[in-house]
Amino acid sequence: MVEVGARLGTGVGAESGAGVPAVSARDRLRWDAEYARRGVATDGVRLPAVFAGHADVVPHSGSALDLACGQGGTAVWLAERGLEVRGLDVSPVAIAQAADLAARHGVTGRCRFGVVDLDDGLPPGGPVDVVVCHRFRDPRLYQALIERLKPDGLILISVLSEIGGERGPYRAGPGELSAAFADLEPIAAGEGDGLAWLIGRRPKQPSAVTLGRS
Ligand SMILES: C[S@@+](CC[C@H](N)C(=O)[O-])C[C@H]1O[C@@H](n2cnc3c(N)ncnc32)[C@H](O)[C@@H]1O
Repeated sequence: MVEVGARLGTGVGAESGAGVPAVSARDRLRWDAEYARRGVATDGVRLPAVFAGHADVVPHSGSALDLACGQGGTAVWLAERGLEVRGLDVSPVAIAQAADLAARHGVTGRCRFGVVDLDDGLPPGGPVDVVVCHRFRDPRLYQALIERLKPDGLILISVLSEIGGERGPYRAGPGELSAAFADLEPIAAGEGDGLAWLIGRRPKQPSAVTLGRS
């Protein structure tokens, strides 16, 4: 299912309020053009390669949030696994392709896609069992992502990194993910070849995570 809204007037779901900031508008146009060039995904229903060795920790039921979900390959993989998935992206073209992919895989009933500008923050929603955020970086969201997890919930996150890659404002510096997600129980993490990634679990017991940190 595609969440229906009116903001971008594209016929696909739009979740948040009026006005796209200039940077996001440029990003959206760039990503729309890229996804239109790629065309509808015919493959790619899988957990991203960087997490693939840890697929066994992903539950087979519950709820999942896939941020900056792109063409929906991960979201559809999660839905096929048995999770109820919400996939969000700023690109209406990507969201339409993701909904199409879900339909072709017969998991429309377990997928909800929406056009959301994450520059406006994480949209409201209840706590989830799994958060995936693959190759999208916004450090302002890190604490909100932790708080969005249910106790025992799992996050799988990867961002471009300066380690083994170029330096730049959109890349994580050394140790960024480990520091940001230090309150989680670590499952696996890595940094190199221009990518940083982390898989962590929110502790079952209340801690600083639930109290919030500034
Ligand atoms: C490198 S792609 C990764 C896509 C997907 N996670 C994957 O692994 O294939 C980055 C994604 O971030 C999305 N994006 C960029 N800026 C965004 C924003 N402000 N809000 C929501 N999504 C955004 C793009 O549309 C694009 O789909």
